Formats: sequence, C-alpha cells, structure tokens
Amino acid sequence: MSHSETNKPQVTEGESYTAAVITVSDRCSRGEREDASGPALAELLGEKGYRVVSTSVVPDERPQIEAAIREAAAADVALVVTTGGTGFSPRDVTPEATAAVCERMAPGIPEAMRAASMAITPHACLSREAAGILGGTLVVNLPGSSKAACENISAVIGPIAHGLRILRGGPADCATERG
Ligand code: MTE
Repeated sequence: MSHSETNKPQVTEGESYTAAVITVSDRCSRGEREDASGPALAELLGEKGYRVVSTSVVPDERPQIEAAIREAAAADVALVVTTGGTGFSPRDVTPEATAAVCERMAPGIPEAMRAASMAITPHACLSREAAGILGGTLVVNLPGSSKAACENISAVIGPIAHGLRILRGGPADCATERG
C-alpha cells in the first residue's frame, strides 16, 4: 500500500446522501405486477449508506417520468435512480424523459455500466440508460429487472459518491480519491 493510499480519507460510499427510487413500469403502475427492482435498489442503496427518502412507481409515459424526476430534484434529493424503460420496446422512454429534464448529461456513468455489464451479458448493450444532472441532483437510469438494475448501479456506486461530493460542494480531491 503506498503512502498516499494509507493517508486517503476513509469514505463511506453513500455518506448519508439522500436517494429516491423511481420504478418505471406500465404493469407495476397498474398493479398487475409486483415491483421487485424498486425495493431491491432501495435495499442496495441503504446498504451503501444512502438514505432512501422516496420510492415511487410511474407508467412508461414521459410526462409522468419527467414529473417524478423533477419532484425529487425540487426536494434536493442527491441521487435519483430510475429502473425500467431503457430498452427497445416502443414504450421504453425513460432515457428520453431523463434527457428532457436534465441540464447536463453525464454519459460516462451509463458507458461504465454498459461496459461492466457486457462482461455479464451481451444483452447489456441493449440498455439505452442515461444519466444527467438537474440542479444538485444526479439522475441515473437503470434497466428494469432487479438483477440488471443492481448489477448496473454496483458498477458505478463508488464513483457516484465522488461525483456527488463534487456536485454538492463537499470536500473532493480527485488527486487522492481513486475509489
Ligand atoms: N445489464 C446487466 N448488468 N444485466 C442484465 O441482465 N439485461 C439487458 C440490459 N442490461 C441486463 C443488463 C437487457 S436484456 C435489456 S433488454 C436492457 O438492459 C434494457 O432493459 P429494460 O428494458 O428493462 O430497461
């Protein structure tokens, strides 16, 4: 272990940042299917140190997805994850809703998630997931299955905490933090 690594601040990934989980699914919103990925993500984020302050389910409709993201950003939630609606189905519009509301896109996050996921399944390249920033809120799209959603967010959960510290004005030293 190098000197700089031993002196590196010990960082808990979520650092008690707030998080919101938005499940995007026609069938879940109609009560025809139980939401599995939303609760799985809430549990994973909780384990990583995030304080999950809201979970919601909306249909695959741009206005409702956009409103849910805007509402979380207006409440100054640090991290919003969506699950579902990132694929090729004609009803899959979560990335478009995300791009419509975000002020700045963060393409490295979905690039990293897809790259890591390709080692798990070649179908990973079919997720059109996006990420972007609205005010002090980072929005990250994830696929709809619990397995895929957790695999994707796990690939970037460390860098996201670093990004949130930069976005929200906390101490962040790119030279010493490599997590
Ligand atoms: N990524 C990981 N890590 N694991 C998976 O099983 N499934 C893929 C992809 N990304 C998958 C994944 C599949 S099959 C699809 S169709 C896309 O995510 C989009 O999923 P969505 O339509 O549920 O958003």
